[in-house]
Amino acid sequence: MIVAIAESCPSGAITYIRKDAGPQEQPPVVNTVRIRENGSLALHAEIVLGDETSFRATLCRCGASENKPFCDGSHNKSGFAATGEPALKDTPALDARNGPLTVTPTKNGQLKLEGNLEIVTGTGHTVDRTQRTFLCRCGHSANKPFCDGTHKKVGFVGQSGAAAKAANLPPQGERSNFIVAQRSWLYRPARIG
Ligand code: FES
Repeated sequence: MIVAIAESCPSGAITYIRKDAGPQEQPPVVNTVRIRENGSLALHAEIVLGDETSFRATLCRCGASENKPFCDGSHNKSGFAATGEPALKDTPALDARNGPLTVTPTKNGQLKLEGNLEIVTGTGHTVDRTQRTFLCRCGHSANKPFCDGTHKKVGFVGQSGAAAKAANLPPQGERSNFIVAQRSWLYRPARIG
């Protein structure tokens, strides 16, 4: 039950460490980034971002998050409008659908994603299958979810790499069969995603 709750958290704000010899969370069999209507990019993959590897994360695509590259819910306040159902491309199946996915927020620019990845709409249709793509995170591309270079015109400012702090996990000596933790650098009280 606890595992199911944690693993259904798209942002990775809730994570867990099992101490009962049960299986730890595994990466998905298919790496996906889900495009949320008027909202974030929800990644489910073996995500390598800076020094950290995680399996779930919601990344900002409106440009307004104060915790870039992660979503902090600012799209709700800013009234960000972007479809979660962009046009579908006719792309062939990948040879492999999982494996490490390296996410690189570029300085004042797009999100570079390298690795096997399926881009899916909010309702689950496949937009693209790729091993390298550049997604908009400034909120202004006319070709969302892809970057079209508009970030330069609008003067988007965003750090390169992960601005994330270390995960705020409880001490290892916790006497519980599970450690359930909220990663403070991903979580804000406002709804995320
Ligand atoms: S990051 Fe938005 S257009 Fe490039």
